[in-house]
Amino acid sequence: MYAVRYELIKKCKQSGARLGRLHTPHGVIDTPIFMPVGTQATVKSMTPEELKEIDAQIILSNTYHLYLRPGHELIKKAGGLHNFMHWDRPILTDSGGFQVFSLGPLRKITEEGVEFRSHIDGSKHMLSPEKAMEIQNALGSDIMMAFDECAPYPADREYVKKSLERTTRWLQRCKDAHKNTENQALFGIVQGGMYKDLREQSAKEITAIDLPGYAIGGLSVGEPKELMYEVLDYTVGLLPENKPRYLMGVGTPDILIEAAIRGIDMCDCVLPTRIARNGTAMTSQGKVVVRNATYAEDFTTLDPECDCYTCRNYTKAYIRHLIKTNEILGARLLSIHNLRFLLKLMEDVRQAIMDDRLLDFRDEFYKKYYGESK
Ligand code: GUN
Ligand code: ZN
Repeated sequence: MYAVRYELIKKCKQSGARLGRLHTPHGVIDTPIFMPVGTQATVKSMTPEELKEIDAQIILSNTYHLYLRPGHELIKKAGGLHNFMHWDRPILTDSGGFQVFSLGPLRKITEEGVEFRSHIDGSKHMLSPEKAMEIQNALGSDIMMAFDECAPYPADREYVKKSLERTTRWLQRCKDAHKNTENQALFGIVQGGMYKDLREQSAKEITAIDLPGYAIGGLSVGEPKELMYEVLDYTVGLLPENKPRYLMGVGTPDILIEAAIRGIDMCDCVLPTRIARNGTAMTSQGKVVVRNATYAEDFTTLDPECDCYTCRNYTKAYIRHLIKTNEILGARLLSIHNLRFLLKLMEDVRQAIMDDRLLDFRDEFYKKYYGESK
Protein backbone atom coordinates (compact mmCIF):
# COMPACT_ATOMS: atom_id res chain seq x y z
CA MET A 1 0.00 0.00 0.00
CA TYR A 2 1.11 3.50 -0.78
CA ALA A 3 1.21 6.22 1.87
CA VAL A 4 -1.03 8.47 -0.20
CA ARG A 5 -4.27 7.52 -1.93
CA TYR A 6 -6.44 9.58 -4.30
CA GLU A 7 -10.20 9.27 -4.12
CA LEU A 8 -12.22 10.75 -7.00
CA ILE A 9 -15.55 12.08 -5.73
CA LYS A 10 -17.02 13.46 -8.92
CA LYS A 11 -16.31 15.27 -12.17
CA CYS A 12 -17.85 18.60 -13.10
CA LYS A 13 -20.33 17.92 -15.92
CA GLN A 14 -19.69 21.36 -17.39
CA SER A 15 -15.86 21.38 -17.38
CA GLY A 16 -14.55 17.90 -16.59
CA ALA A 17 -12.71 19.19 -13.50
CA ARG A 18 -12.14 16.66 -10.70
CA LEU A 19 -13.38 16.90 -7.14
CA GLY A 20 -11.47 14.53 -4.91
CA ARG A 21 -9.74 13.71 -1.66
CA LEU A 22 -6.14 12.90 -1.02
CA HIS A 23 -5.59 10.59 1.93
CA THR A 24 -2.19 11.12 3.57
CA PRO A 25 -0.52 10.03 6.84
CA HIS A 26 -1.23 13.49 8.33
CA GLY A 27 -4.83 13.78 7.22
CA VAL A 28 -7.18 14.14 4.29
CA ILE A 29 -6.91 16.99 1.76
CA ASP A 30 -9.78 18.24 -0.41
CA THR A 31 -8.78 18.66 -4.06
CA PRO A 32 -8.31 20.72 -6.17
CA ILE A 33 -6.09 22.40 -3.59
CA PHE A 34 -3.65 25.30 -3.37
CA MET A 35 -0.53 24.67 -1.25
CA PRO A 36 1.08 27.64 0.53
CA VAL A 37 4.87 27.60 0.22
CA GLY A 38 7.06 27.31 3.32
CA THR A 39 10.51 27.13 1.78
CA GLN A 40 12.53 27.43 5.00
CA ALA A 41 10.23 25.35 7.21
CA THR A 42 7.97 28.37 7.67
CA VAL A 43 5.30 29.95 5.50
CA LYS A 44 6.91 33.36 5.74
CA SER A 45 5.60 35.34 8.72
CA MET A 46 2.73 32.96 9.54
CA THR A 47 2.31 30.64 12.53
CA PRO A 48 0.79 27.18 11.99
CA GLU A 49 -2.23 28.34 14.04
CA GLU A 50 -2.75 31.21 11.60
CA LEU A 51 -2.43 28.81 8.67
CA LYS A 52 -5.07 26.59 10.22
CA GLU A 53 -7.37 29.54 10.80
CA ILE A 54 -7.40 30.25 7.04
CA ASP A 55 -7.93 26.51 6.37
CA ALA A 56 -4.56 25.64 4.82
CA GLN A 57 -4.69 21.86 4.44
CA ILE A 58 -1.15 21.14 3.23
CA ILE A 59 2.03 23.16 2.83
CA LEU A 60 5.08 22.79 0.62
CA SER A 61 8.69 22.96 1.75
CA ASN A 62 12.08 22.60 0.06
CA THR A 63 14.77 19.94 0.17
CA TYR A 64 17.49 22.25 -1.15
CA HIS A 65 17.05 24.97 1.47
CA LEU A 66 16.56 22.64 4.45
CA TYR A 67 19.55 20.51 3.43
CA LEU A 68 21.79 23.59 3.45
CA ARG A 69 20.22 25.12 6.57
CA PRO A 70 19.68 23.79 9.23
CA GLY A 71 20.56 20.39 7.65
CA HIS A 72 18.32 17.34 7.34
CA GLU A 73 20.18 15.46 10.09
CA LEU A 74 19.27 18.18 12.56
CA ILE A 75 15.60 18.10 11.49
CA LYS A 76 15.62 14.33 11.84
CA LYS A 77 16.95 14.73 15.40
CA ALA A 78 14.07 17.13 16.09
CA GLY A 79 11.68 14.31 15.19
CA GLY A 80 11.13 15.29 11.55
CA LEU A 81 9.91 18.42 9.81
CA HIS A 82 6.37 18.27 11.25
CA ASN A 83 7.70 18.30 14.82
CA PHE A 84 10.49 20.74 14.08
CA MET A 85 8.12 23.40 12.72
CA HIS A 86 5.02 22.52 14.80
CA TRP A 87 2.79 21.70 11.80
CA ASP A 88 0.76 18.52 12.12
CA ARG A 89 -1.02 18.58 8.74
CA PRO A 90 0.41 17.17 5.49
CA ILE A 91 3.69 18.47 4.02
CA LEU A 92 4.94 18.09 0.47
CA THR A 93 8.63 18.64 -0.17
CA ASP A 94 10.11 19.56 -3.54
CA SER A 95 13.23 17.61 -4.40
CA GLY A 96 15.72 20.40 -4.83
CA GLY A 97 16.00 19.72 -8.56
CA PHE A 98 14.26 22.91 -9.55
CA GLN A 99 16.15 25.02 -7.00
CA VAL A 100 19.65 23.85 -7.97
CA PHE A 101 18.88 24.35 -11.65
CA SER A 102 17.99 27.95 -10.88
CA LEU A 103 21.53 28.50 -9.55
CA GLY A 104 22.84 29.04 -13.09
CA PRO A 105 26.65 29.08 -13.30
CA LEU A 106 26.92 27.71 -9.76
CA ARG A 107 25.97 24.18 -10.88
CA LYS A 108 27.03 21.31 -13.13
CA ILE A 109 24.74 18.49 -14.31
CA THR A 110 26.01 14.93 -14.84
CA GLU A 111 24.33 11.52 -15.00
CA GLU A 112 25.15 11.12 -11.30
CA GLY A 113 23.35 14.29 -10.24
CA VAL A 114 23.97 18.00 -9.87
CA GLU A 115 27.07 19.52 -8.39
CA PHE A 116 26.48 22.98 -7.04
CA ARG A 117 27.79 25.69 -4.82
CA SER A 118 25.65 26.88 -1.93
CA HIS A 119 24.01 30.27 -2.52
CA ILE A 120 24.79 30.97 1.15
CA ASP A 121 28.53 30.38 1.59
CA GLY A 122 29.78 29.04 -1.76
CA SER A 123 30.54 25.56 -0.32
CA LYS A 124 30.44 22.61 -2.74
CA HIS A 125 27.65 20.01 -2.66
CA MET A 126 26.13 17.25 -4.75
CA LEU A 127 22.42 16.50 -5.06
CA SER A 128 21.48 13.23 -6.71
CA PRO A 129 18.34 11.09 -6.78
CA GLU A 130 19.69 9.08 -3.82
CA LYS A 131 20.66 12.18 -1.85
CA ALA A 132 17.32 13.87 -2.50
CA MET A 133 15.55 10.75 -1.18
CA GLU A 134 17.84 10.53 1.85
CA ILE A 135 17.08 14.16 2.72
CA GLN A 136 13.31 13.87 2.19
CA ASN A 137 13.21 10.60 4.13
CA ALA A 138 14.92 12.43 7.01
CA LEU A 139 12.46 15.34 6.77
CA GLY A 140 9.53 12.92 6.88
CA SER A 141 7.30 14.78 4.42
CA ASP A 142 4.05 13.06 3.42
CA ILE A 143 4.75 13.62 -0.28
CA MET A 144 8.30 13.66 -1.66
CA MET A 145 9.02 14.88 -5.17
CA ALA A 146 11.36 13.03 -7.49
CA PHE A 147 14.73 14.58 -8.32
CA ASP A 148 14.20 15.92 -11.84
CA GLU A 149 15.59 18.39 -14.32
CA CYS A 150 13.35 21.26 -15.34
CA ALA A 151 14.59 22.32 -18.79
CA PRO A 152 14.82 26.08 -19.32
CA TYR A 153 12.69 27.97 -21.84
CA PRO A 154 13.51 28.19 -24.62
CA ALA A 155 15.58 25.03 -25.05
CA ASP A 156 16.35 23.06 -28.17
CA ARG A 157 14.69 19.73 -28.81
CA GLU A 158 17.83 17.62 -28.56
CA TYR A 159 18.61 19.01 -25.15
CA VAL A 160 15.06 18.61 -23.84
CA LYS A 161 14.97 14.99 -25.05
CA LYS A 162 18.25 14.12 -23.32
CA SER A 163 17.10 15.89 -20.19
CA LEU A 164 13.72 14.16 -19.94
CA GLU A 165 15.33 10.75 -20.51
CA ARG A 166 17.77 11.47 -17.69
CA THR A 167 14.83 12.56 -15.52
CA THR A 168 13.22 9.13 -16.13
CA ARG A 169 16.43 7.32 -15.12
CA TRP A 170 16.65 9.54 -12.05
CA LEU A 171 13.05 8.69 -11.13
CA GLN A 172 13.83 4.97 -11.16
CA ARG A 173 16.83 5.67 -8.91
CA CYS A 174 14.59 7.71 -6.58
CA LYS A 175 12.15 4.85 -6.33
CA ASP A 176 14.94 2.34 -5.65
CA ALA A 177 16.42 4.58 -2.93
CA HIS A 178 13.09 5.43 -1.24
CA LYS A 179 13.26 3.98 2.29
CA ASN A 180 9.87 4.68 3.78
CA THR A 181 7.07 3.82 1.33
CA GLU A 182 4.63 3.10 4.19
CA ASN A 183 4.65 6.68 5.47
CA GLN A 184 5.91 8.78 2.57
CA ALA A 185 4.68 8.92 -1.01
CA LEU A 186 7.03 9.56 -3.95
CA PHE A 187 5.57 11.51 -6.89
CA GLY A 188 7.13 11.38 -10.37
CA ILE A 189 7.49 14.53 -12.49
CA VAL A 190 6.72 14.71 -16.22
CA GLN A 191 9.06 16.97 -18.20
CA GLY A 192 9.53 17.47 -21.96
CA GLY A 193 9.56 21.24 -22.36
CA MET A 194 7.16 22.72 -24.91
CA TYR A 195 7.42 19.76 -27.34
CA LYS A 196 4.25 17.69 -27.43
CA ASP A 197 5.90 14.49 -28.59
CA LEU A 198 8.51 14.83 -25.84
CA ARG A 199 5.79 15.43 -23.25
CA GLU A 200 4.20 12.23 -24.51
CA GLN A 201 7.48 10.32 -24.27
CA SER A 202 8.10 11.63 -20.75
CA ALA A 203 4.53 10.91 -19.56
CA LYS A 204 4.76 7.35 -20.89
CA GLU A 205 8.13 6.71 -19.25
CA ILE A 206 7.25 8.36 -15.93
CA THR A 207 3.82 6.74 -15.54
CA ALA A 208 5.28 3.32 -16.46
CA ILE A 209 6.95 3.57 -13.04
CA ASP A 210 4.15 2.79 -10.60
CA LEU A 211 3.80 5.61 -8.06
CA PRO A 212 1.02 7.13 -5.91
CA GLY A 213 1.01 10.44 -7.82
CA TYR A 214 2.40 12.39 -10.75
CA ALA A 215 3.33 16.02 -11.31
CA ILE A 216 3.74 18.20 -14.36
CA GLY A 217 6.99 20.18 -14.19
CA GLY A 218 8.75 22.50 -16.58
CA LEU A 219 5.82 24.87 -17.06
CA SER A 220 5.48 28.55 -16.19
CA VAL A 221 9.20 28.98 -16.90
CA GLY A 222 8.83 32.06 -19.10
CA GLU A 223 6.77 30.71 -22.02
CA PRO A 224 3.66 32.57 -23.24
CA LYS A 225 0.51 31.67 -21.31
CA GLU A 226 -1.29 30.26 -24.37
CA LEU A 227 1.59 27.87 -24.97
CA MET A 228 1.55 26.81 -21.34
CA TYR A 229 -2.17 25.99 -21.51
CA GLU A 230 -1.64 24.07 -24.74
CA VAL A 231 1.12 21.92 -23.25
CA LEU A 232 -0.81 21.54 -20.00
CA ASP A 233 -3.97 20.41 -21.82
CA TYR A 234 -2.03 17.87 -23.73
CA THR A 235 0.02 16.57 -20.81
CA VAL A 236 -2.85 16.15 -18.32
CA GLY A 237 -4.53 13.85 -20.85
CA LEU A 238 -1.54 11.52 -20.59
CA LEU A 239 -1.80 11.00 -16.83
CA PRO A 240 -3.73 8.18 -15.11
CA GLU A 241 -7.23 8.98 -13.82
CA ASN A 242 -6.82 7.22 -10.49
CA LYS A 243 -3.79 9.19 -9.23
CA PRO A 244 -3.43 12.81 -8.08
CA ARG A 245 -2.03 15.33 -10.56
CA TYR A 246 0.12 18.20 -9.37
CA LEU A 247 0.99 21.23 -11.50
CA MET A 248 4.22 22.59 -10.05
CA GLY A 249 4.94 26.22 -9.32
CA VAL A 250 1.83 28.03 -10.55
CA GLY A 251 -0.60 30.07 -8.52
CA THR A 252 -2.12 33.12 -10.16
CA PRO A 253 -5.91 33.02 -9.73
CA ASP A 254 -6.58 32.50 -13.45
CA ILE A 255 -4.09 29.63 -13.77
CA LEU A 256 -5.49 27.94 -10.64
CA ILE A 257 -8.97 27.95 -12.19
CA GLU A 258 -7.75 26.93 -15.66
CA ALA A 259 -5.64 24.12 -14.17
CA ALA A 260 -8.65 22.76 -12.25
CA ILE A 261 -10.74 22.87 -15.43
CA ARG A 262 -8.06 20.78 -17.13
CA GLY A 263 -8.10 18.14 -14.42
CA ILE A 264 -5.28 19.28 -12.10
CA ASP A 265 -5.66 18.47 -8.38
CA MET A 266 -2.78 20.34 -6.71
CA CYS A 267 -0.90 23.62 -7.24
CA ASP A 268 1.64 25.70 -5.30
CA CYS A 269 3.13 29.15 -5.70
CA VAL A 270 5.16 31.70 -3.73
CA LEU A 271 3.20 34.54 -5.34
CA PRO A 272 0.62 35.33 -2.59
CA THR A 273 3.22 35.64 0.16
CA ARG A 274 5.82 37.33 -2.07
CA ILE A 275 3.52 40.09 -3.31
CA ALA A 276 2.19 40.49 0.22
CA ARG A 277 5.65 41.52 1.35
CA ASN A 278 5.84 44.27 -1.25
CA GLY A 279 2.40 45.61 -0.50
CA THR A 280 -0.01 43.98 -2.96
CA ALA A 281 -3.29 42.24 -2.15
CA MET A 282 -5.34 39.90 -4.33
CA THR A 283 -9.02 40.63 -3.79
CA SER A 284 -12.36 39.59 -5.24
CA GLN A 285 -12.31 42.87 -7.21
CA GLY A 286 -8.78 42.33 -8.56
CA LYS A 287 -5.30 43.29 -7.41
CA VAL A 288 -5.01 46.13 -4.92
CA VAL A 289 -1.58 47.74 -4.64
CA VAL A 290 -2.23 48.96 -1.15
CA ARG A 291 1.17 50.65 -1.02
CA ASN A 292 -0.13 53.23 -3.53
CA ALA A 293 -1.01 56.77 -2.41
CA THR A 294 -4.62 56.21 -3.57
CA TYR A 295 -5.21 54.27 -0.36
CA ALA A 296 -3.66 56.76 2.08
CA GLU A 297 -7.07 57.73 3.47
CA ASP A 298 -9.05 54.66 2.49
CA PHE A 299 -10.65 53.44 5.68
CA THR A 300 -12.39 50.44 4.11
CA THR A 301 -11.13 46.88 4.37
CA LEU A 302 -9.08 45.14 1.65
CA ASP A 303 -11.84 42.91 0.36
CA PRO A 304 -15.51 43.18 1.35
CA GLU A 305 -15.99 39.50 0.46
CA CYS A 306 -13.10 38.15 2.54
CA ASP A 307 -13.57 36.57 5.97
CA CYS A 308 -9.90 36.66 7.07
CA TYR A 309 -8.50 38.17 10.27
CA THR A 310 -7.04 41.10 8.30
CA CYS A 311 -10.30 41.95 6.58
CA ARG A 312 -12.27 41.62 9.80
CA ASN A 313 -10.10 44.14 11.61
CA TYR A 314 -7.96 46.50 9.51
CA THR A 315 -8.30 49.24 6.89
CA LYS A 316 -6.33 49.77 3.70
CA ALA A 317 -5.01 53.05 5.12
CA TYR A 318 -3.55 51.27 8.15
CA ILE A 319 -2.03 48.42 6.13
CA ARG A 320 -0.54 50.98 3.72
CA HIS A 321 1.00 52.80 6.67
CA LEU A 322 2.56 49.54 7.93
CA ILE A 323 3.97 48.72 4.50
CA LYS A 324 5.33 52.24 3.96
CA THR A 325 7.08 52.16 7.33
CA ASN A 326 8.40 48.63 6.77
CA GLU A 327 6.59 47.31 9.81
CA ILE A 328 6.57 43.51 9.99
CA LEU A 329 2.85 43.46 10.73
CA GLY A 330 2.09 44.82 7.24
CA ALA A 331 3.61 41.80 5.53
CA ARG A 332 1.90 39.49 8.02
CA LEU A 333 -1.55 40.96 7.52
CA LEU A 334 -1.23 40.87 3.73
CA SER A 335 0.14 37.30 3.77
CA ILE A 336 -2.82 36.15 5.86
CA HIS A 337 -5.21 37.82 3.45
CA ASN A 338 -3.58 36.72 0.17
CA LEU A 339 -3.32 33.10 1.27
CA ARG A 340 -6.90 33.11 2.53
CA PHE A 341 -7.97 34.60 -0.81
CA LEU A 342 -6.45 31.71 -2.81
CA LEU A 343 -7.62 29.04 -0.35
CA LYS A 344 -11.15 30.48 -0.52
CA LEU A 345 -10.88 30.60 -4.32
CA MET A 346 -10.17 26.86 -4.31
CA GLU A 347 -13.07 26.28 -1.89
CA ASP A 348 -15.30 28.07 -4.40
CA VAL A 349 -13.80 26.05 -7.26
CA ARG A 350 -14.60 22.82 -5.39
CA GLN A 351 -18.17 23.97 -4.74
CA ALA A 352 -18.56 24.91 -8.43
CA ILE A 353 -17.38 21.41 -9.44
CA MET A 354 -19.91 19.95 -7.01
CA ASP A 355 -22.61 22.07 -8.67
CA ASP A 356 -21.42 21.29 -12.25
CA ARG A 357 -20.82 24.97 -13.01
CA LEU A 358 -17.07 25.59 -13.02
CA LEU A 359 -17.07 27.30 -16.45
CA ASP A 360 -19.79 29.72 -15.30
CA PHE A 361 -17.82 30.29 -12.10
CA ARG A 362 -14.71 31.07 -14.13
CA ASP A 363 -16.53 33.67 -16.24
CA GLU A 364 -18.04 35.33 -13.18
CA PHE A 365 -14.68 35.36 -11.41
CA TYR A 366 -12.84 36.86 -14.39
CA LYS A 367 -15.42 39.62 -14.75
CA LYS A 368 -14.94 40.69 -11.16
CA TYR A 369 -11.20 40.14 -10.93
CA TYR A 370 -10.03 41.40 -14.31
CA GLY A 371 -12.98 43.58 -15.32
CA GLU A 372 -14.67 43.16 -18.69
CA SER A 373 -11.31 42.84 -20.47
CA LYS A 374 -10.97 39.07 -20.07
N1 GUN B 1 8.71 23.73 -9.34
C1 GUN B 1 8.23 24.34 -10.44
N2 GUN B 1 8.54 23.64 -11.56
C2 GUN B 1 9.24 22.56 -11.16
C3 GUN B 1 9.84 21.44 -11.86
O1 GUN B 1 9.79 21.33 -13.09
N3 GUN B 1 10.48 20.51 -11.08
C4 GUN B 1 10.55 20.62 -9.71
N4 GUN B 1 11.18 19.68 -9.02
N5 GUN B 1 10.00 21.66 -9.04
C5 GUN B 1 9.35 22.60 -9.76
ZN1 ZN C 1 -8.93 39.10 3.82
